[in-house]
Amino acid sequence: MRFELNGQEVEVDAHPMRRLLDVLRVECGLTGTKEGCGEGECGACTVLVDGEPVCSCLVPFAQAGGTSVVTIEGLGGKHPLQRAFGDHGGAQCGICTPGMILAAVALGPNPTLEQVRVGLAGNLCRCTGYEAIYRSVLGAYEAVDDRRPAAEAPAVGGGSKADGGAAFGTGADGGRSDVAGAGRSRSNGSGADAGAGSAGKAGL
Ligand code: FES
Ligand code: FES
Repeated sequence: MRFELNGQEVEVDAHPMRRLLDVLRVECGLTGTKEGCGEGECGACTVLVDGEPVCSCLVPFAQAGGTSVVTIEGLGGKHPLQRAFGDHGGAQCGICTPGMILAAVALGPNPTLEQVRVGLAGNLCRCTGYEAIYRSVLGAYEAVDDRRPAAEAPAVGGGSKADGGAAFGTGADGGRSDVAGAGRSRSNGSGADAGAGSAGKAGL
């Protein structure tokens, strides 16, 4: 199967019904994409497919053929969001972080708080209580604005601010589109569950 992965054309041999998540982590060796629930509920496995955040645990590899896939590794550690999640405490255990960042990338630069809340509503975090994550997304572009024009900020795979609503799915509940058509519409609400997992931060 041929597709574009983090800006490079690749050909990967895997069963068409294998989960994109597994193909990325195993066949491609890109372990920055995390598995949480494995059933489309948590958003930890979020990657961008043709600029839209999808739950890679729900996507059969066959659906990735001919698409452009961006994983957290595709940001190269240089995206303002990656720095901001460290600076503002948006990454704690780290298991949700790659998915959070990619969902935020899809919002484009300088989203409003409401856009961030809606855009990340399908990504669950057990550690931060979400406020630190919202601060990270908003702060990422403030920092960039201090240093240089926002237009120069890297924008990998995501839509612009103007089209961000269409880029991250279908509903005001943060529903995540997925190539296989098995979308989800789970809100993370506003509560913060205590506790932290043990996943590393590979790929951040
Ligand atoms: S691992 Fe939870 S949505 Fe994919
Ligand atoms: S930092 Fe979000 S689940 Fe731990």
